[in-house]
Amino acid sequence: MLQKLPPSVSSLLDDRIDGHSLPAGLYTREDVFEADLDVFFRRHWICIGLECDVPEAGDAVVVDVGNSSLILLRDDDGGIRVVHNVCRHRGSRLLDAGPTIVSKLVCPYHQWTYELSGELSYAPHMGTDFDKSCKNLKPIAFKSIGGLIYVCLSDKPPQDIDRLEQVMAERLAPYDISNAKVAFQSDVIEQGNWKLTMENNRECYHCSANHPELCVSFVDLDFGFDPESLSPEDQETARQHQALYEERTRRWEADGYPSAAVEQLVDCATNFRTQRLIISGAGESQTADATAASAKLLGTMTRKDLGDMHLWGHNSWNHFMGDHAVVAIVIPLSAGRTLVRTKWLVHKDAAEGVDYDLEKLTNVWIATTEQDAELVARSHAGTLDPAYEPGPYSRFSETNLDKFANWYIERMRAHGY
Ligand code: FES
Ligand code: FE
Repeated sequence: MLQKLPPSVSSLLDDRIDGHSLPAGLYTREDVFEADLDVFFRRHWICIGLECDVPEAGDAVVVDVGNSSLILLRDDDGGIRVVHNVCRHRGSRLLDAGPTIVSKLVCPYHQWTYELSGELSYAPHMGTDFDKSCKNLKPIAFKSIGGLIYVCLSDKPPQDIDRLEQVMAERLAPYDISNAKVAFQSDVIEQGNWKLTMENNRECYHCSANHPELCVSFVDLDFGFDPESLSPEDQETARQHQALYEERTRRWEADGYPSAAVEQLVDCATNFRTQRLIISGAGESQTADATAASAKLLGTMTRKDLGDMHLWGHNSWNHFMGDHAVVAIVIPLSAGRTLVRTKWLVHKDAAEGVDYDLEKLTNVWIATTEQDAELVARSHAGTLDPAYEPGPYSRFSETNLDKFANWYIERMRAHGY
């Protein structure tokens, strides 16, 4: 009897029904995962870290993305470098994953030694005719956008990162993220596909039932709702809230703080959305009582009433507030495992226990991240069940998921799948 072959990646893409979640195989199959790594994590710009991950000369951090290992470092001149963590002799890894401090990059295998610029300066026993200059560490294309480090592993990086750069450089300037301090970092491995992680982040349909801590400061209706599903009182609240948005956005912009929504979510390579969101309750910050966690504000900020500048990319989400910022970076580990790395940033001179309490700073997003990890794991488990079939996105609260799924299919197609 002939064995039935599994459908190709291309036919899974064909099977996508508009307005619906993806066919199961696009979330669960390892061959799709390999294609995703190639398309979305090698041939598009991805966020891998921050300038302030490496504040001093010699600071380095290794970030692994699929089979690639990247060293983000600060060189002797104070510049940022991103190089491949692959020795030019016989390929050994130079550094282990995680943060470290180095004066030079010395390969543990045969001690080839590289300057922090990536230049090969010492290669013993290679003969006097050996030309070291062609064996420098391979650089990786990168951009620091307001202190966020985006890299592209392709030799043809998409040009439309320019729009993200142009929009965010101005929006992020007063926060001076390049010179902030990483007060805390958490790594959570979600038991789910990276696209489920991103889908979950692009809607707040699930927020009121799952994120009691976040909902103190976050307005769950901000990403869409069906007015007919609301009680008359809630409809009135939603109307007032929309009016408040118009008024606040106008005032913030008049004060010189760009705030209106800017998005590039379809017909693009670089996928992003930003908007200055209103913080509810005390209105200052995403903490348990919505008041600022740090007495020292970020960068040159002088106000705590500038809301939450949110930014989505296809592997990151960010919230920039007056007193602190939360930056989350998503790196797929396998079809069913995804690293969510979250960093809490404060002013570089803010002292723990004096200017901020670490518990107050971190507890809302630690709880929210754990809750989201649980939701993503449940969702992924469901896609593995033969009973799963793609379900309809809410046309009110999940329009951004439909856009993400369309972008995903279009990008796969653009890269030959
Ligand atoms: Fe690095 Fe030989 S592999 S020095
Ligand atoms: Fe969530």
